[in-house]
Amino acid sequence: MKPTSWTILPVAVAAVAALTVAIVAISNDNSSTSTTSAASTTQSAPGMNMAGTAGKATLQSYAGQLPANADALAKAHKPYDATLPPVPAGEVVPLHIALKDVTLQIAPGVKFSAWTFDGGAPGPVIHVRQGQTVKVTLTNGGAIPHSIDFHAARIAPDKAFTSVMPGKSFSFSFKANDPGVYMYHCGTPPVLAHIANGMYGAIVVDPKTPLRHADKEYVLVAGEWYLDSPGLNKPAYLDMDKARLMMPDWVTFNGYANQYKDHPLTAKPGDLVRFYVVDAGPSLTTAFHIVGTILDRAYVNGDMTQFQSSVQTVDVPAGGGGVFETRITQPGLYPFVSHSFASVDMGEVGILKVGNVKGTMSH
Ligand code: CU
Ligand code: CU
Repeated sequence: MKPTSWTILPVAVAAVAALTVAIVAISNDNSSTSTTSAASTTQSAPGMNMAGTAGKATLQSYAGQLPANADALAKAHKPYDATLPPVPAGEVVPLHIALKDVTLQIAPGVKFSAWTFDGGAPGPVIHVRQGQTVKVTLTNGGAIPHSIDFHAARIAPDKAFTSVMPGKSFSFSFKANDPGVYMYHCGTPPVLAHIANGMYGAIVVDPKTPLRHADKEYVLVAGEWYLDSPGLNKPAYLDMDKARLMMPDWVTFNGYANQYKDHPLTAKPGDLVRFYVVDAGPSLTTAFHIVGTILDRAYVNGDMTQFQSSVQTVDVPAGGGGVFETRITQPGLYPFVSHSFASVDMGEVGILKVGNVKGTMSH
């Protein structure tokens, strides 16, 4: 659908009367961006529009707003490598993570002023084996305090997930005793802002007895972006009001809208393909589904001791993960999506290209 006009939803006005905002859905009208630019001068921290657009007459969606050369930019974009990296050798896995404030592209030509683990959103995919010790060292090169919360750890969060001041480093270790696929994220308050600014990633903990051999293993981290401007002429900042109301402008796998449509993930016919899916949120669920096939095995919530068979769609909640296997014999282009289709409309879709086929798909 090509958005062409203002769509005002009066019902939403009543629903959020406390904020006295009207939800104004998809619009191409750039002139209206002036309603939010004033708010961006009242940021409480670099990279965060804490004031949002509260008190303004409208909250505006920038969903689907792209520059004229978006197709060329999408093709030139280097996609986030979704391939699961190997497990490092040794009992102890050292992880050095630098916290950096960077401007990211989150869709073709759409810039966002982000807070990151190692300069990307998501941060690096971490892969360990059950029983290994993960030794984390954070170095805060950002402007404000940050931290790291590993869902794969059993550890006192007030000690390990503590905030690190700008310019400082901090280390802690945990033993990865529980296999699964887990989220990690910054846990510094307000957590909503830190996750929505890009501070999230995935860690895969292989079980001691590995899962069956897979020919391809891919990691997908879903996340939402809430923008205070279209991000076309200057980087957008996080709009906290849109984050609170769960009104994203873009929803992505691995941080960039539709990137695996233009740069599909690949498999050969008959390959066993395994997806590790984490939903970083901060707030929406990913209803994981692959068009044109059925999930042979779904390790729901990353529980690797059991699986569901022959299922169509599995929810991955915000802050959760799941492992999904499929074996596709017929060559073709198979879109993987969140079947919550508003998210597809905002960019949460990619393609698994099976065999040597041409063309693209409209999903
Ligand atoms: Cu943070
Ligand atoms: Cu968490």
